Amino acid sequence: MMSNLLELRQLCVEVDGKELLHDINMTIPRGEVHALLGPNGSGKTSLMMTIMGFSGYHVCRGQILFDGEDITGLDLTGRARLGIGIAQQRPPTITGVKLRDILEYVSNGNSWRTDQVEALVKKSGTERFLDRDINAGLSGGEIKRSELMQLLVSRPRFSMMDEPDSGVDLESLSLVGGLINELFSKDLDHPAKRRSGIIITHTGHILNYIQADKAHILLNGRIACSGNPRLMLQTVGERGYEECAICMREAA
Ligand SMILES: Nc1ncnc2c1ncn2[C@@H]1O[C@H](COP(=O)(O)OP(=O)(O)O)[C@@H](O)[C@H]1O
Ligand SMILES: [Mg+2]
Repeated sequence: MMSNLLELRQLCVEVDGKELLHDINMTIPRGEVHALLGPNGSGKTSLMMTIMGFSGYHVCRGQILFDGEDITGLDLTGRARLGIGIAQQRPPTITGVKLRDILEYVSNGNSWRTDQVEALVKKSGTERFLDRDINAGLSGGEIKRSELMQLLVSRPRFSMMDEPDSGVDLESLSLVGGLINELFSKDLDHPAKRRSGIIITHTGHILNYIQADKAHILLNGRIACSGNPRLMLQTVGERGYEECAICMREAA
């Protein structure tokens, strides 16, 4: 078994014929949660969508490896079956499908007990919109909780979430942080280890609630630097993301 769950090798990605991500190298060992930081427009969402396998994101060079297997040519469904899951920042509204339907469908496939799912629904505060169409008329904070609830029941081996802290008030932030910790809390196959994933955050606020093992800063579609999340966030807070560009130039 590979110790690295996800590996990106010199990945370049095009959207609508334009190269948005350049030469991305990233390694996420089993049991680690990494933070992906960067200013708006730097390519964070595009990287997540590429790893998930959305069709608009064309890998023009490089490779994506998951658990040692090259999944660069695998479609989104295939990747979901391997255990990759996402919580989107602005997921679409799905008319005619209720949150309850999705939770029932996914939890049956994952052998959850009904009382366990009910407890999670309570904890996530999603019961008020269980019987509404997915994301229809939900507030920003409600969408985060709905997306996380769906991830929780699907128990992916590798979860990515896009700015779970954006547009969320302080009280909800600790709730969202609790849900994310629960999501990563245990790897049923390796009880000593956490589950793995990527948390995208522009502000870093969510990292006050979740321990990230490593952070990467994306600037203009490139990884500008990688390292200790606390130190990097502190530097970004004091001097801004542009400091990374300087650091990158000095390294070159
Ligand atoms: N479908 C698209 N077509 C053209 N450009 C896009 C598309 N999606 C994203 N981009 C551009 O790619 C860059 C990175 O976007 P995005 O991945 O959303 O960044 P972030 O999530 O870091 O804010 C931006 O300049 C954005 O305008
Ligand atoms: Mg984004």
